[in-house]
Amino acid sequence: MSILKVCHLGHPVLRMQSKRVPREALASPAIQNLIDDMMETMVEYYGVGLAAPQVHHSLSIAVIECHGPRGEIPMTVLVNPEMTILDESLLEDWEGCLSIPDFRGRVPRYARLRVDALDRHGHKVEFTAEDFFARVIQHEFDHLMGKVYLDRMRDLGTLAHMAEFERYWLPREKKAGSSE
Ligand code: NI
Repeated sequence: MSILKVCHLGHPVLRMQSKRVPREALASPAIQNLIDDMMETMVEYYGVGLAAPQVHHSLSIAVIECHGPRGEIPMTVLVNPEMTILDESLLEDWEGCLSIPDFRGRVPRYARLRVDALDRHGHKVEFTAEDFFARVIQHEFDHLMGKVYLDRMRDLGTLAHMAEFERYWLPREKKAGSSE
């Protein structure tokens, strides 16, 4: 397994719509190794999600895992995911992105959705996700569509560099009882 280089905003691959992975191609060592490397890369950089375009592969694959105050999400591999919004109400919260290092911004996301995808073995998976899990899925799904969270912000006025985020915004959010 290897830790992969994560590309940053400005790299054209981040703005491309990724290609679906044919089910028969999933078992190939190249794809299986890529999935292993994406998991290792996400963990190495303390990400809660990583999409293949972020590691220079324009393929519809994302990995998600979170163990922390915002939620418990087991390691999840999504291949060719499709989303159906189940609750149109929008919740706004802070997001960051390994491809936009050291920034945070407030992003509205749908509260609840259904996901249809393949797992790494090509089996169909279908589940519903809400709140933080739904947020991470929408963030990763956007990467697969060539979008980043900045595109979804209502107001770039909340875009904050990390040090200023921690100094000016994080305490207020904590006081306000957020999930941080
Ligand atoms: Ni991201």
